[in-house]
Amino acid sequence: MKIGFYQFSPIFGENKKNLEKVANLLLKCDADLVVLPELAFSGYLFIEKNEVLNLSQPIPGNISDTLKEIAIKKDMAIVTGFAELAGDKTYNSSFLVTPQGDITIYRKNHLFHEEKLYFEPGDLGFPVVTVKGVKIGMLICFDHFFPEAARTLALQGAQIICHPSNLVIPGKAQITTRTRSIENRVYWVLANRTGTEERGGKKFTYSGLSQISDPDGRIMVQAGEFEEGFFAVEINPELAKNKSITPLCSLFEDRRLDTYQLDKK
Ligand code: ACM
Repeated sequence: MKIGFYQFSPIFGENKKNLEKVANLLLKCDADLVVLPELAFSGYLFIEKNEVLNLSQPIPGNISDTLKEIAIKKDMAIVTGFAELAGDKTYNSSFLVTPQGDITIYRKNHLFHEEKLYFEPGDLGFPVVTVKGVKIGMLICFDHFFPEAARTLALQGAQIICHPSNLVIPGKAQITTRTRSIENRVYWVLANRTGTEERGGKKFTYSGLSQISDPDGRIMVQAGEFEEGFFAVEINPELAKNKSITPLCSLFEDRRLDTYQLDKK
């Protein structure tokens, strides 16, 4: 299976232009799964709720229709972050569209900073989707700080975790996602964006360095900090089914559910 990501710098507020750019790239690339960044069409740095409402799209909508057509035509799965409008609510969401055109939505469970002003917290759990016989889950950016999220996907059998991101705290996710790969023995596609957004007296620089790590936590491919581009690698998803660290130690079977305390006293 060939999996990849497209690291680029979306232009704030330009859903249509960003979608055209992504569509042109996807039509040219060759992979079974491609992951795009968080909020890949709207941009990230909102300064008022009306902007979020104007730039969010329902499913089905123009973004999902376009990516669905490409997924079917290219026989590939696509995962993207997008601003979702559901009724009068907005979510920082992603969706996975399969090569058959079926769409599954994930809504970011751990909202970061001012996202809490603009989006509802996720209410769809952590779905896992099968593509070409391989189980795939999604997380969005800040979710990487919460090991329980990746674990929840891995326990449902996810072999690949797709992670659309707009990372603004440099140098962390490249480490945590490798760690999540190791502790769950999964492949991890960290699809970050590049560029800077400066709006309403605020400024965010997005740190690039998107990467794919394997179930041993090795980096298989990594983009630069500033570059835009499509990167892909061949993987063996069967490796992510083996949760053994030694013949006597299993990451799942050796858990001590009787001793853990996962809530504050
Ligand atoms: C983030 O969750 N976009 C930092």
